Amino acid sequence: MTAARNRLLDLLGIELPIIQAPMAGVSSPAMAAAVSNAGGLGSIGGGATDAEGARAMIGAIRTRSNWPFNVNVFCHRPAQADPRRESAWIERFAAEFAKLGAPPPASLNEIYRSFLADDEMLATLVAERPRVVSFHFGLPSAERVRALKEAGIILFASATSLGEARLAASAGVDAIVAQGYEAGGHRGVFDPDAEDSRLGTLALTRILAREIDRPVIAAGGVMNGAGIAAALRLGAAAAQLGTAFVGCDESLADAGYRASLFGDAAHHTTMTRAISGRPARCLANRFTLLGARIAAADIPDYPIAYDLGKALHEAGKAKGEFGFGTQWAGQGAPLARAMPAADLVGRLVAELDGA
Ligand SMILES: Cc1cc2nc3c(=O)[nH]c(=O)nc-3n(C[C@H](O)[C@H](O)[C@H](O)COP(=O)(O)O)c2cc1C
Repeated sequence: MTAARNRLLDLLGIELPIIQAPMAGVSSPAMAAAVSNAGGLGSIGGGATDAEGARAMIGAIRTRSNWPFNVNVFCHRPAQADPRRESAWIERFAAEFAKLGAPPPASLNEIYRSFLADDEMLATLVAERPRVVSFHFGLPSAERVRALKEAGIILFASATSLGEARLAASAGVDAIVAQGYEAGGHRGVFDPDAEDSRLGTLALTRILAREIDRPVIAAGGVMNGAGIAAALRLGAAAAQLGTAFVGCDESLADAGYRASLFGDAAHHTTMTRAISGRPARCLANRFTLLGARIAAADIPDYPIAYDLGKALHEAGKAKGEFGFGTQWAGQGAPLARAMPAADLVGRLVAELDGA
């Protein structure tokens, strides 16, 4: 199948219907530049950093590429502290820290700010003007949307349901990322406490393509050209691939993460809220096993819970134990490949042409 041009590719001024997903902590400027240089759209995750960190990443892409790229920000409700729940959370994991010979954190903090409350990030994006800014976990205010659009920036937003997609479209977002339940990493649900219909990529993409008058980008479980062709046939304008790029040379995934991705755990991804405070699909590991027994109400707000999650991972890593890692991956994980990102894009294009 040769990918025809469509209004999303024309809007972006790119050749391929392939978007490398923003992956905070895993995607890198080198990865994004490689994908954009190969004709797709590279992305960086700005969700877990501040304005200065985002500016540095944008600069690092621009030294490698003149092509369009995407900067992603997190639009979650700012964290609500609950000191009692947080102390209970620290206490719950005290034995794990003890086994690793490390002290548990004394307190837990909101380790990064939501874009909803980050004026410096808005000012940086308006000044730097990446071609695309994408929103995950919700939508910013109308003033923020207006400021980004006035700077000539194209806007994407993740949606996991028709209701979220409608909100994004009416907020003026240019294209909707239809994130299915298969997808690796954090689920983009606007409200993690609301009922979740857990739509798969196939159904969600088709529903949004029929119901929403905006280009739809299919995300979740797309690992190869056959998957991209399927997404396009369902009416998507492009596919967004995350897990497919985790094993690439430019990925920031550590050795333990890569070993799990290319091992048996890839066959057992699971949705867990215990690592960060929001549901995310992860390779099965010690942390997801512990998390499976914990009620959502006991877990501190996102990203306060993540403060402990990251500390536990660091304590484990220091002892060669990678089982507490943030090892996000989608259901397509067994299909991941290790190679430079540009080579992966080349393979995807060849597979798409042959599909
Ligand atoms: C390691 C990893 C990190 C991710 N981080 C982000 C992120 O920072 N922002 C975001 O919008 N989506 C993030 N996602 C979700 C992707 O945007 C996308 O929805 C998902 O990767 C698609 O499913 P797939 O992994 O099966 O390709 C992440 C996914 C993975 C695998």
